[in-house]
Amino acid sequence: MKITVVGGGYVGLVSGACLAKTGHDVTIIDTIPQKVDMINSGRPPIYEKGLEEILKSCVGRNLCASLNYDSVAESDIALICVGTPPRPDGSANLEYIESAAESIGREIGKAESRGVHRFRTVVVKSTVPPGTTEKIVFPAVMKGVGSCATADELSIDIGFAMNPEFLREGLAVEDFLNPDRIVIGSGGGKAKDAVTAMYEGIGTERLYCGITAAEMIKYTSNAFLATKISFSNEIGNICKQLGIDVYEVMKGVGMDHRISPFFLNAGAGFGGSCFPKDVSALVSLAESSGIDPVLLKSVLGVNDAQPLRMIELLEKRIGDISGKHIAVLGLAFKNDTDDIRDSRSIPVLAELIKKGAKITAYDPMATAAMKTLFDESKVIYCANAKDALKDADACLVMTEWPEFTKLDAEFDGMRSRVIIEGRRILSVKDKEGICW
Ligand code: UGA
Repeated sequence: MKITVVGGGYVGLVSGACLAKTGHDVTIIDTIPQKVDMINSGRPPIYEKGLEEILKSCVGRNLCASLNYDSVAESDIALICVGTPPRPDGSANLEYIESAAESIGREIGKAESRGVHRFRTVVVKSTVPPGTTEKIVFPAVMKGVGSCATADELSIDIGFAMNPEFLREGLAVEDFLNPDRIVIGSGGGKAKDAVTAMYEGIGTERLYCGITAAEMIKYTSNAFLATKISFSNEIGNICKQLGIDVYEVMKGVGMDHRISPFFLNAGAGFGGSCFPKDVSALVSLAESSGIDPVLLKSVLGVNDAQPLRMIELLEKRIGDISGKHIAVLGLAFKNDTDDIRDSRSIPVLAELIKKGAKITAYDPMATAAMKTLFDESKVIYCANAKDALKDADACLVMTEWPEFTKLDAEFDGMRSRVIIEGRRILSVKDKEGICW
């Protein structure tokens, strides 16, 4: 199939590359020239395991990037993968979705006017509130078509579908090629067949459902996963107070197949570009529909409070933080990424700065990103954990980087050995956990 992917971010780039790997002819559209150039030279603009290999083998063959929408004319599918960032009130900003849809429509209109007739399916992959595909994408595509095609040509054949992604950063290629399920929301007919054909190379269960149900499945999946984490954190906070190891508890709990052992790791809370944004969007959606989402608000409440527990524990151990040297290990929102979006280390650094601590920090990948939030007048960024820990009065571990497991003698350089971990990752004995 010929596929145009609109948006060359994590989702669009990984989806486009993997669809090319499974044999389709793919064009990825992005507005940033450097990104387009990088993709076209086989270099991924983001780090994602396995992505470079795919770009190297497909670019120049059946994968390219472009700044314009020309490829839509000849495409069977236009996949919308643009961002839906949060507005200040938590609701999703659908501006990019709308303009991408209108541009796709314009290209379809122009193609039909030129006599290039074919059935095309517009598929929304971005995470969007239920109703977006029908109420925003459909009219925007038709508006674009209408601005370029005559009334006769408006009988053109366009299908619409919603196909959410469930990719994890760092494991996105693996997740795309080996998903738990593929959700295809459509009104049936040719649009459903087109999306089914797009995934022909990927063997897993398909769920066919309505478009709004598909949109809601994505929000609900992320909200449920976030709930599992906040639930584990609340249980962890109770366990710590009672002197019980929450990891022993959750191991026993997760052995019940109705619960499953995954996503029950208590710690400093969830971050990233998805869970906080999507749960907030769902809260805002509920409230605007007259529902008070008590549980979802608590999920966010527990998550906001969790990093500050690190500071509370720290103060219990060393008293007043002002003037003390605190080492922070881990800045990324999780391991194997340089992404700091909504990382739990951000509120921790902000609080330490507010309280007048001297901060040294180390992260294997996310230092450059964190420097843009807290410059070097506020945080001293170190090249390794040993340097960050040297002469520190205490240390806070904020990210589950596997390399932290091996840390041992590095802690000997601390002035006082106060080690508090927000992720269960260290193997040294004399540490204290946020919930254990
Ligand atoms: C998440 C979902 O896992 C994907 O399925 C989804 O497609 C994606 O959001 C999205 O909506 O695009 P991601 O944000 O990459 O993926 O990160 P996760 O690996 O899910 O981790 C999220 C956060 O939860 C991290 O801060 C991690 O440290 C934390 N976490 C995870 C816990 O605190 N405990 C756990 O047990 C698991």
